[in-house]
Amino acid sequence: MRLATVEATPNIAVVKYWGKRDEELMLPNNGSLSFTMDETLKTRTTLAFSPEFKEDEAWINGEKLDEKALKKVIKALDAVREAAGTSEKAKLVSINGFPTAAGMASSASGMAALACAANEVLGLGLDSKGLSILARRGSGSACRSVLGGFVEWRRGEKEDGSDSYAIQVTDENHWPEIRNVIAVVDHGEKKVSSRAGMKQTIETSPLYSARQQYLPKVIEDVKAAVLAKDFNKFGELVMRESNDLHSVMLDTWPPILYLNDVSKEIIYAVHEYNENAGKIVAAYTFDAGPNAHVYTTEDQVKGIKEMLSKIKGIQKTVVCKVGAGPKKLSDGHLIAEDGSVKKHHYDAEKNGIVVE
Ligand code: DP6
Repeated sequence: MRLATVEATPNIAVVKYWGKRDEELMLPNNGSLSFTMDETLKTRTTLAFSPEFKEDEAWINGEKLDEKALKKVIKALDAVREAAGTSEKAKLVSINGFPTAAGMASSASGMAALACAANEVLGLGLDSKGLSILARRGSGSACRSVLGGFVEWRRGEKEDGSDSYAIQVTDENHWPEIRNVIAVVDHGEKKVSSRAGMKQTIETSPLYSARQQYLPKVIEDVKAAVLAKDFNKFGELVMRESNDLHSVMLDTWPPILYLNDVSKEIIYAVHEYNENAGKIVAAYTFDAGPNAHVYTTEDQVKGIKEMLSKIKGIQKTVVCKVGAGPKKLSDGHLIAEDGSVKKHHYDAEKNGIVVE
């Protein structure tokens, strides 16, 4: 048996991926931009391969995956096996190093960790481009989490997806003051998964094609604002982009509404906060759920937390910095040498992953 353990972190997009041009290869209709988060929201994954394993098995946050949930993992493992030219079955054990109640999507960090761990165990020798393509096969947005800092996922043109991968625009030290104040509004299951939702949008939203027309310019403008560290410009572009995304979601038939009343209150409160500041110092962005990601700078975090504390329905806030990307661990494996799953849990008090 061979194994490797990697920790990866989620990324939160400021120009969003929504819609695939190839569902099998997970090729996007548009490019996207994100910041990779720091270890506040890390996911640790141990991946093992052995000719003795009879079938693929996976455990996430201590629970063995059932057939339906396992399917997504097997699809990602098949892409790994294809890259490695092996048919060996795998064992995957993954745990989030943050309270599950934080309601954060962990598929990006999970699939990025899987791709990086596979690269290590199977000696694939992939560079960041190869890793990004492999992670993309597990979940589109995961291709951005193989890199730290400010990241662009290039749409690409080729049908085989060989030019659709993420590149680092700037590393985590370029704009160290950037923070993401996450307002956890709800941690329930999504009513419509992003995978199903984006498909529905492409098929039924008349506004979606307009979005595709202007996104390339938005991407260039956001990149320029980040390079210039111009928060006022950056913030407006990010909020408009989030609003645009949620407009095409509402324009989908039947409509998809991920924002709830608390999200809407946060939107109004952020605009009021900016008005009082006389410029844009905080910018919300929402993914396929009601949790708000309020991008801001370090000096504003206190004020923003105070502003959010007045809104009923926010369960907690989590503050993230921009992170450096995945990290290989030499100990702390979640699988023992005999192939059994080690006892492990997330310890809220120690704020860490404990492996017995
Ligand atoms: C709204 O990457 O989760 O967060 O590729 O089907 O796995 P699949 O979807 P996923 O979609 C993320 C959508 C988003 C926007 C973004 O992160 O860019």
